[in-house]
Amino acid sequence: MKGGPGTASPGHPPRVGHNRGVSDEVTAIDDPDDERLGDYRALTDLALRTRFEQPHGLFIAEGHQVVTRALRAGYRMRSMLIDAKRADQLAHLADGAPCYAAGPEVLEAVTGFHVHRGALASFHRKPLPAPAEVLAASNRLMVLEGINNHTNIGAIFRVAAGLGFGGVLLSPDSADPLYRRSVRVSMGEVFALPYAYLDPWPDGLKQIGDAGYTLIGLSPSSGAIDIGEVAAAERARPALMFGAEGPGLTPAALAACDRTVVIPMHAGVDSLNVAAATAVACWELAQPAPRHSATVENSDSHGGPHV
Ligand SMILES: C[S@@+](CC[C@H](N)C(=O)[O-])C[C@H]1O[C@@H](n2cnc3c(N)ncnc32)[C@H](O)[C@@H]1O
Repeated sequence: MKGGPGTASPGHPPRVGHNRGVSDEVTAIDDPDDERLGDYRALTDLALRTRFEQPHGLFIAEGHQVVTRALRAGYRMRSMLIDAKRADQLAHLADGAPCYAAGPEVLEAVTGFHVHRGALASFHRKPLPAPAEVLAASNRLMVLEGINNHTNIGAIFRVAAGLGFGGVLLSPDSADPLYRRSVRVSMGEVFALPYAYLDPWPDGLKQIGDAGYTLIGLSPSSGAIDIGEVAAAERARPALMFGAEGPGLTPAALAACDRTVVIPMHAGVDSLNVAAATAVACWELAQPAPRHSATVENSDSHGGPHV
C-alpha cells in the first residue's frame, strides 16, 4: 500500500479536481492507495497513529461540528477527506486546503472504519503552551496523572470546559488529547482549553503550589476527607488531580498534594470511573463554600450521604 502514516504527507498536490458547483474545488479519489490520503491511513491502529501523528505534527478531526471547532480555534487544515455523496455540504469546510472526496469503500479501505460522519480533516498541531502559561490562564485547573485512555481524556476535557476549569496539566505518560477519539469524545473542547505536559513528573507539581493553587488529590482511599468538607480557602484556586483507572494516583503524586479528598461511595462500590469522578469533583469544588463542615461525622466508604 502506498503512502500511509510515516511515509506520506499530502502536502499541496496540484489541483486536478473538478468544480462541483460549490465554491471549493474537490479532488475525487478512487484509489485507496493514493498517496495524498496518507494522513488518513489506518486510523484505528492506535500504536501506528501514536507513532505517526505527534512526530509529524498533525491530528485528525472527525465530523462537521468538530472540524468547525478546530478551525474556529485557529488550527490550520492540512487537507480534508469527505464522503463524495456529501461533498456539497462539507467541501466548504476545507477553506483553501486540499479537499479529497471518495466513496464509502475507499474511505473504509483507507481509514479502517466506516466513516459515517462524512468528514475527516487533518490539521497542523500548534506548539503547546508552557505549564506556566496554563497555570496563569485560570483560577481552576485539572491535573491528570497517567490517564492513558483516550475516551477518558476526551470526557475529562469536556467536563473541565463545561464546569469552569480553565486548563489541564498532564503527566508525560498521559494520553494525547488530540488523538482522534479524545477530540471526538470531548466534542472539540480539547481545542478550547490550554493544556501542557508537566515534565519532570512528579517534581514539576511544585510549580502548581508556587502559582498559588491548592493541589487537591482525588483519591478513593481512606485518609482522604469528604470532598464536601473542603474549606472555602482551598476552593479559591483549586488544582484537582486525578489518577488512572487501575492504580489511581501514585504515592509520589499523593505526597505532593496539599489535601486529598474522597467522593463518598455507596453500596460497596470502591470508586468511580475517572471521568465521572472529574464531573463530581469539578462541580463540587467550583462551589465557593463547603456544604458541610469537617466536624460532621465522616461517612465510611460504604456509608450514606451526609445530612
Ligand atoms: C477508578 S479510580 C482509581 C481507583 C484506584 N484503585 C485508587 O485507589 O485510586 C480513577 C481515579 O478517579 C478518581 N476517583 C474515582 N472515584 C473516586 C472517589 N470515590 N473519590 C475520589 N476520587 C475518585 C481518582 O482520582 C482515581 O485516581
